[in-house]
Amino acid sequence: MSNPNPSSKPDRNLAMELVRVTEAAAISSARFMGLGDKNGGDGAAVDAMRAFLKTVDMKGVVVIGEGEKDEAPMLYNGEEVGTGYGPEVDIAVDPVEGTNLLAFGRPNSIAVIGAADRGSMWKPGESLYMDKLVVEKKAREVIDIRLSTTENLQRIAKALNREVNDLTVFVLDKPRHQSLIAEIREAGARISLHSDGDVMGALMAATPGTGIDVLMGIGGTPEGVISACAVKAIGGGMQGKRAPQKSYEMEALKKEGADLDKILTLDDLVQSDNTFFAATGITDSTFLEGVHFDRSGGVTTESIVIRSLSGSIRYVKGIHQFKRKLNFGT
Ligand code: FBP
Repeated sequence: MSNPNPSSKPDRNLAMELVRVTEAAAISSARFMGLGDKNGGDGAAVDAMRAFLKTVDMKGVVVIGEGEKDEAPMLYNGEEVGTGYGPEVDIAVDPVEGTNLLAFGRPNSIAVIGAADRGSMWKPGESLYMDKLVVEKKAREVIDIRLSTTENLQRIAKALNREVNDLTVFVLDKPRHQSLIAEIREAGARISLHSDGDVMGALMAATPGTGIDVLMGIGGTPEGVISACAVKAIGGGMQGKRAPQKSYEMEALKKEGADLDKILTLDDLVQSDNTFFAATGITDSTFLEGVHFDRSGGVTTESIVIRSLSGSIRYVKGIHQFKRKLNFGT
């Protein structure tokens, strides 16, 4: 994605402000690490996100307010966020992506937010689950979710100038993925299995050098759109396809008249080339450090901040002083 006006003056990078929102969500929810209270952590993150979104100059509308799937506390779809001044944008949020990871103190939970020009994010409607394939930029032209797993892995390996057995594939460890896992093994690639958190998987697959080369498999549809914001901003490749897992989901999709065979390209998932993405680690991972509380009352966070037009990727280390400002402002 190239900047349509590269000689233009430096302008605002909305993601630099959105990272305060994900930092606040991460800090609030991090207190729930390992407590087994999935909704407690999610609720704390939602409240913090909502409060910090109020400080950002934008006319935002939540298009992806993750939570419907399991009746979790949520920023609801259609909710207006921001000060009401500034650019009109669609917002995708997941205050805690990986609520179980947080509840059980496992790696990879993150607070995430994506933004793109108004009207450009795909609305999943009745779709709860979708199949996803994510790679980095060098392999983005060769993936085709209609092909077999083996063919995709061979194409990706070739595009990256590597062997299939050099590739590591991020897969959610779910019974529905038994045959996917068997085929990846048969093809010879390495597998990194995770109980939850495929937004982190997508983020790592789209970013070269993270140790994850590909994300494959079925996960949440809202998480798919959020991942698409990140992948688009990074310049990686992604394809998806609705993959209903429950009979009521299938029924609802039929009623909606959804085309189950439609391949969802990255441009279908997020039309605009003007996208922003921020994520903050809640629990530690190999990609982002989680929230750490130190003895002097300070809190540290690590975030990634990405903007598509400039292609900038920033890793932001935050040192927050709880005692100075109770609302963990930065
Ligand atoms: P939550 O944060 O809503 O718990 O989602 C975690 C997650 O693992 C996502 O990363 C993934 O897309 C989805 O759930 C998979 O859903 P399921 O666990 O129902 O297979």
